[in-house]
Amino acid sequence: MLDILATIHNRHSMRGAFDLGRPVSPETQEKILQAAQWAPTPTNMQNFEMIVVNSADQLDAIGKIPADMSEQFLRETYALLSFTETELAAKRTGMLASSFPLAWTNPEAWNPEADARSQLTFLDRTIGETPLLMFVLYDGSRRAPGSDADTVGLISLGCVMENMWLACESLGLGFHVLTVVSDGAVEKQLRSLMHIPVQMKIAFACSIGYAAQQTAPDTRVRRLLKDFVHYNKFDARA
Ligand SMILES: Cc1cc2nc3c(=O)[nH]c(=O)nc-3n(C[C@H](O)[C@H](O)[C@H](O)COP(=O)(O)O)c2cc1C
Repeated sequence: MLDILATIHNRHSMRGAFDLGRPVSPETQEKILQAAQWAPTPTNMQNFEMIVVNSADQLDAIGKIPADMSEQFLRETYALLSFTETELAAKRTGMLASSFPLAWTNPEAWNPEADARSQLTFLDRTIGETPLLMFVLYDGSRRAPGSDADTVGLISLGCVMENMWLACESLGLGFHVLTVVSDGAVEKQLRSLMHIPVQMKIAFACSIGYAAQQTAPDTRVRRLLKDFVHYNKFDARA
């Protein structure tokens, strides 16, 4: 129990550079894929497919896609940022602005007409150098039994993500989730590059690798249990 809690606690987002001289071996890639394979899904429907991108050419092509994120994505991300450690410690939710590319934290860059928009540049600035990307796709024409908007089916994609992430943590690998890949213009280009069938949607991608250098993870905060746990009735505390 202590081991699993320690792995859960230590799992973190790795947004630094990966060591391109240290590839993730095929055996290790298979372990991560097995972690995804054994994720729980509603009625065991196994509602996902995966694309492993490990060829230098394809990684390069993905990196050259313009990181043309929607203003909505940038605005909603911005709303969750803190600009100092003190602000983050007080809020206990969200993230430090310094964890993101500068353009994400510059409202000027959100305006499709503004010159500052060019700061968003290409996906390789967001993804960073990586030896391995894994894309998780789902079939938008199916749904979990009885689930409006397939909410239940989408929850299981989160289980896939967490299984892979915990496996990477225990394998000593860094893991960075990229939801930008499912944002309008970026997704469109990825679909064409990877020949993704029309009914399949990109849920998320993750970049995986060994850290180029040992750096402390970003400051990570969580609410206290008493801030979100209710007993027997909502708003009833222990
Ligand atoms: C569904 C989901 C989507 C996420 N998308 C991104 C993303 O696009 N870019 C990113 O840098 N981190 C992304 N993250 C990572 C979260 O920002 C991170 O888990 C959160 O800030 C807590 O930090 P920790 O993972 O270090 O504990 C995502 C995480 C989840 C669960």
